[in-house]
Amino acid sequence: MKILDGRDKRSIAEAVTLLERGEIVAFPTETVYGLGAVAFNPMAVAKIFEVKRRPRFDPLIVHLDGADRLDDYVENVPPEAERLIEAFWPGPLTMIFRKRPVIPDIVTAGLPTVGIRVPSHPVALDLIATLKKPLAAPSANRFGYMSPTRVHHVARSFEERVPLVLDGGRARHGIESTIVSFRHDGVMVHRHGAVTVEELSQHVRVVEREKPSAACEAPGELPYHYSPMKPLRLVNGPGDVKAGNSSYLAFREPDRPCAAKHVKVLSPGGDLKEAASNFFSFLIELDRDDIDIIYAEKVPETGIGRAIMERLKKASGRHFGPSTGNR
Ligand code: TXA
Ligand code: MG
Repeated sequence: MKILDGRDKRSIAEAVTLLERGEIVAFPTETVYGLGAVAFNPMAVAKIFEVKRRPRFDPLIVHLDGADRLDDYVENVPPEAERLIEAFWPGPLTMIFRKRPVIPDIVTAGLPTVGIRVPSHPVALDLIATLKKPLAAPSANRFGYMSPTRVHHVARSFEERVPLVLDGGRARHGIESTIVSFRHDGVMVHRHGAVTVEELSQHVRVVEREKPSAACEAPGELPYHYSPMKPLRLVNGPGDVKAGNSSYLAFREPDRPCAAKHVKVLSPGGDLKEAASNFFSFLIELDRDDIDIIYAEKVPETGIGRAIMERLKKASGRHFGPSTGNR
């Protein structure tokens, strides 16, 4: 895999040439790195599913460089969406709309709706603007694994299977976009992410989801998403960490010594935004061959802390969830 500096115009030109040819290219966004294909090219989009080993029923987000052509791709933009576009685009908010037929079914996994966002990372914007077409892109990781926030995470996951990744430095937010849809009674959050419920609530009425149904509307709500390879257990603090071959992902500076072999502190001072920006990269570092378990300290479920906890609960559910009977 070639790694090129995304701020260089020549790199953008090379990425565009590959994309036009039906190849896939990894690129930085302000949330996490994405793996892109021209959204109008079903064969190219199919490559994304193949390379990620992602099931075909899990739809992709379509990335635009601005909201001006949104009407070409979606049937209807509700007034709440207009307000959210004004407040959060470009930025880490994905909105689900009814799609027009120009968006191929493979992008949306056959759903009548499409998730759309305008990223704010200058390299992503430059790439889409130069391409002059929307970019279908999931996070640039193997299906089910953690999202990449650094260029080397992408390189390590895909090696020769992806021809090019544009380097845009570390992803600023470090956690994926918030995904919302529009209901008669308000705006519903499908995935907690970098835009917080508190921020959304300043502009629209946010309705809470009932318990996720078995037939999930967003397959990203699958319980095993965002997981490290090693089992992860949620704990209240360093006192709950058992001695042995373990890693400990602390939220703030531990107030006592910790028995784990490897320790990373998300934010020494307990700042949730800082914690989110370090979250995936620290968890990837702690997911090592020489340990048997990762202990992760719970974080407060306010602001972006909800997004962190959503991902930690899914990661712990994979090995310690009710379905395994192995709490
Ligand atoms: O921050 C992000 O959103 C990153 C960057 C690259 O933009 N992308 C990302 O994509 O996280 P991905 O594919 O890893 O997660 C997108 C989630 C999936 O879980 C998918 O199920 C959901 O969005 N999604 C996409 N289209 C949808 C739709 N029409 N209805 C419901 N959920 C949808
Ligand atoms: Mg993903």
